[in-house]
Amino acid sequence: MHRRGTEAKIAFVAFLVGGITFAHYFTEWNVHYYHIFYQGLYFLPVILAGFWFGLRGALAASLSITILYLPFTVVHWNGFSADDFNSVMEMVLYNVVALILGTLRDREAAVQRRLRESEGLASMGKMASCLAHDLKTPLIAIGGFARLVREGIEKKDFSFEGKLDIIIKETIRLRRMVEEMLDFSRPLELRLTQGNVNNIVNQSLAILSDLPYAKKVKFQNMSQQDLPLMILDSDRMKQALINLLTNAIEASPEDGTVAIDCYQKRRKLIIDIKDQGSGIPMSKREEIFCPFFTTKEGGTGLGLPIAKKIIEAHQGYLEAIENSGKGVTFRVTLPFL
Ligand SMILES: Nc1ncnc2c1ncn2[C@@H]1O[C@H](COP(=O)(O)OP(=O)(O)O)[C@@H](O)[C@H]1O
Ligand SMILES: [Mg+2]
Repeated sequence: MHRRGTEAKIAFVAFLVGGITFAHYFTEWNVHYYHIFYQGLYFLPVILAGFWFGLRGALAASLSITILYLPFTVVHWNGFSADDFNSVMEMVLYNVVALILGTLRDREAAVQRRLRESEGLASMGKMASCLAHDLKTPLIAIGGFARLVREGIEKKDFSFEGKLDIIIKETIRLRRMVEEMLDFSRPLELRLTQGNVNNIVNQSLAILSDLPYAKKVKFQNMSQQDLPLMILDSDRMKQALINLLTNAIEASPEDGTVAIDCYQKRRKLIIDIKDQGSGIPMSKREEIFCPFFTTKEGGTGLGLPIAKKIIEAHQGYLEAIENSGKGVTFRVTLPFL
């Protein structure tokens, strides 16, 4: 999709250059005002190429124009008349504008890149300190209860079932935290294949239905059943849906319903995950997608950032929409690639 976008932009710039050159060659030379208009129009592809592709793109456009327009100037050369001077100056200007605009664009891109890198480093630092802090609590609990169990064995007191349950629960929590951290920090490389979204939804629901904490809710799958196949990374998409469904379950009241609805809307696929929980205040709508933002005891704040990263890697987007009644709907919008 990304490459197709680039190809379309190159084709558009080439079309403009070709079209204007064609107009020059096929308009009578003595209709001066037309030619002056076309000369002005040549700036358009130069500016667009500079804006889209930086210095190299802008120079490619301005040099192509110079090469294409030069024979026309030579054929109508009139001993360095005012028109000739004007044509030469225009050609110089195309290249100067390309040089300035392209350089500015490239500099701006470099600044953006550096900014992104430093943001990445800052979030790594934050992640390391959060990791240390979040891992400490369950580790202390596990260590403490393991010691109690040991003391119990020494005293021949074998009533440590509850303590072992806590150790197991904390270990599961630790594992989940570590998995989420790894998912978040790893670069996302999609393995794209043709996938069936209905299957992905059904599998995600099946995985969650087996988990004890999901027993408190009812799942309602209202998806359109004949959805067309899509190019996607099924495992990653399943992971994104599981993260969203997990949040929906955690936010739901006892006996609440979590509804999932997939449908096609023009050239897009929409997946709605709707809960009847407490909802999300307007002021938190942006924040919830930030890494490490959590309102839960023992939460990592990484479920939503990971889901967002996966969805955006598929050129889609994720948004939270308030329900008219209770709760919130997380909407995934994916283009058909
Ligand atoms: N369905 C939901 N209903 C209400 N709040 C939600 C929902 N989903 C996410 N949130 C809010 O967004 C926060 C971040 O979610 P997430 O990134 O998955 O991290 P975590 O679940 O570990 O807290 C949650 O702590 C919660 O406050
Ligand atoms: Mg979560």
